Amino acid sequence: MRVEVRDLWKVYRSALRGRVEALRGVNLVVEEGELFVVLGPSGCGKSTLLNLIAGLDTPTLGEIHIGGKLVASPDRSLPPKERNVAMVFQNYALYPHMTAFDNIAFPLKVAGLKKEEINKKVREVAETLQIEHLLKAKPSELSGGERQRVAIARAIVRNPDLILLDEPLSNLDAQLRIRMKAEIRKIQRDLGITAIYVTHDQTEAMSIADRMAVMNEGKVVQVGDPMEVYRRPANTFVATFVGTPPMNLYRRRVVKGSVELFGNRIEVDTTEEYVYIGFRPEEAEVTEGNTLEVVWVERLGDEAVVHLRCGEEKALVKIHGAGGPEVGTKVGLLIKKHHIFEE
Ligand SMILES: Nc1ncnc2c1ncn2[C@@H]1O[C@H](COP(=O)(O)OP(=O)(O)O)[C@@H](O)[C@H]1O
Ligand SMILES: [Mg+2]
Repeated sequence: MRVEVRDLWKVYRSALRGRVEALRGVNLVVEEGELFVVLGPSGCGKSTLLNLIAGLDTPTLGEIHIGGKLVASPDRSLPPKERNVAMVFQNYALYPHMTAFDNIAFPLKVAGLKKEEINKKVREVAETLQIEHLLKAKPSELSGGERQRVAIARAIVRNPDLILLDEPLSNLDAQLRIRMKAEIRKIQRDLGITAIYVTHDQTEAMSIADRMAVMNEGKVVQVGDPMEVYRRPANTFVATFVGTPPMNLYRRRVVKGSVELFGNRIEVDTTEEYVYIGFRPEEAEVTEGNTLEVVWVERLGDEAVVHLRCGEEKALVKIHGAGGPEVGTKVGLLIKKHHIFEE
């Protein structure tokens, strides 16, 4: 189902911190069938946004529409079960005293389905997630990955129109994260279900998203497909948040329509006196010269990151293969592609 979020605000009042603007005018459209990622640092409002879409909380201002229907505004908020939305939480939120079967069956029982029907649906979804052999176990007897599967099974068993996933992989180890990521992607595709997937991990976002929104401080700062966001970040925040290692970024004074950066003169089309200029580690080449000093060559297997220093400023450059400059030597830098930001 298509989801539309219009000028959404959420303001919390807490005794300790006073007024907290968790969401500050969020606008988003998630298309039917898409896996849409919301990416942003901790505290930027991701969970607040999901909770409002799920119906666990009400907006201070703005509207949420699911499948063309108004489900939330300050004076109208449909309860979660009337939205046909399922949520998977970071900590799984399984009922500890219930078996995996009963956990998965729970939403069906609440919905008043007959026993045979519940049985059938739980078996079906357990098969999809390959957890048939775990149905009698309690959450405490399951590994993190198995609990995550049970939580996903519980979320999809009712055929929701929309599934919301709040940092679903953050409690898993690196290997399992890669596997579960692929599985979530496959299940979402197979079911054709619309999904909103929240994460603070940009690598995860890049690899799983059809489209993504980057959030910072309660606002959406950019929306696009992952490569578009990577290639053309909208501002310095996105430029340095998306991509590992992050983009090299410097503030420079514009003199006669150009700036100087480690021996490269780069023309800029701006009326500002100062700009931020950046290049990604793979957008520059180490050359012969004596502008920068090689501080460290960080080996990553088939590629390496060369750490360079010029006075107080640092630069990271990616190289391929086992070669590369010697630590302690002086080199030059050829910037092949750059990005200009006016803030
Ligand atoms: N119930 C609440 N009361 C007060 N402040 C809250 C509450 N829930 C979240 N916040 C604050 O709102 C901001 C956004 O939180 P959250 O949506 O959980 O961020 P994220 O999920 O991106 O880490 C944070 O500053 C957080 O401390
Ligand atoms: Mg959160």
